[in-house]
Amino acid sequence: MKILVTGGTGYIGSHTVVRLIENKYDVVMLDNLSNSKKDVVDKIDVVIVDNLSNSKEDVVDKIQTITKVKPIFYKADLLDKDAVSKIVKKEKPDAVIHFAGLKAVGESVEQPLRYYHNNITGTVNLLEVMAENGIKDFVFSSSATVYGNPKSVPINENFPLSTTNPYGATKLMIENILRDLYNSDTSMNIAILRYFNPVGAHKSGLIGENPNGIPNNLVPYMMQVAAGKLDYLRVFGDDYKTKDGTGVRDYIHVEDLAEGHLLALKKLKEKPGIVTYNLGTGVGYSVLEMVKEFSSVLGRDLPYKIIARRPGDIDACYADTALAKKEIGFEAKRGLHDMFKDGWNFQKNS
Ligand code: NAD
Ligand code: UD1
Repeated sequence: MKILVTGGTGYIGSHTVVRLIENKYDVVMLDNLSNSKKDVVDKIDVVIVDNLSNSKEDVVDKIQTITKVKPIFYKADLLDKDAVSKIVKKEKPDAVIHFAGLKAVGESVEQPLRYYHNNITGTVNLLEVMAENGIKDFVFSSSATVYGNPKSVPINENFPLSTTNPYGATKLMIENILRDLYNSDTSMNIAILRYFNPVGAHKSGLIGENPNGIPNNLVPYMMQVAAGKLDYLRVFGDDYKTKDGTGVRDYIHVEDLAEGHLLALKKLKEKPGIVTYNLGTGVGYSVLEMVKEFSSVLGRDLPYKIIARRPGDIDACYADTALAKKEIGFEAKRGLHDMFKDGWNFQKNS
């Protein structure tokens, strides 16, 4: 089976590529074959397409260091439909996992057209090329952001959908496009995966999340405080309706998230159709609990100050994970300690 991974040099994509390649070893037992490089190269079944707008090509080498397999890599933009078409015709993938997209909420508010164009047009181009080449299996990176401001927690897949910013709107719009597409062609096999808050890094410390500039999200910000690049964590508000007043979220280790993609792909093979799953741990942690856990991993206190709320933030967001557990056997194995240990290991190396 050959899989095209868009956005495969990015944060979640690169971890998923590693997991896909490692799974191939398990399945076909490449270690029983000749060790010559050519044999290994011939056996690669992952093709990455990324325009490198938010990642670096050396991630491909790092994936090779981890897995001993170099995935095929094309620097190409999904907005360039001809380029995507040529790659698909040449590589003939059986399935597509679609990570490529822009993802910064604040930036999407400032540059909505760029976000709509990149995320929506890029996805439509990709789906058109798939249709032209008879490719039916598709896994899409959606987000818990499509639940907007949920009335209660935990959130299950049947909660009402809404969005509060252009980034979230692109995710919801793509979900709707996929539901319409499936209604028009029920031979499609589509998995919509709604990620909660992916954090951490590969245990090797070679790949992880390294945002440009000052991070917007909690864990990358904490990492930079620990590394001495930022003075202290700004805790956005302590008057939320939560256990200690700070915001509560469902943080999931990126390696667990990667596993979810593999399980979703397997599901599409076993039981075709369109499915939607939350990928989270089902447990919510407050910002102060996060500070406490990271401090224990560091062996020193992480400095922080409570400041005003960040506009648009919600009290609590965590997943009901029952459906993904029941239907694909997905269960996050790694806890907060591993998320911080692996994230910090990557941060120290970068
Ligand atoms: P990332 O930015 O690290 O990876 C996305 C990759 O897509 C990057 O390597 C970028 O260069 C590439 N890309 C963007 N536009 C492209 C285009 N037009 N053509 C080709 N390549 C393009 O982000 P990530 O955190 O790995 O997120 C992956 C996906 O998961 C995204 O769709 C994101 O919206 C979604 N998601 C992420 C989170 C999160 O917190 N990280 C949460 C929920 C959903
Ligand atoms: C972010 C995205 C959201 C996406 C989700 C999952 C934003 C505005 N929203 O939301 O679209 O679906 O990730 O990937 O980026 N916090 C601090 N100090 C900081 C940073 C964050 O106290 O410097 C707090 C926040 O108030 C929140 C929690 O930490 O309570 C988590 O914040 P963040 O990591 O930005 O994730 P989300 O708010 O869940």
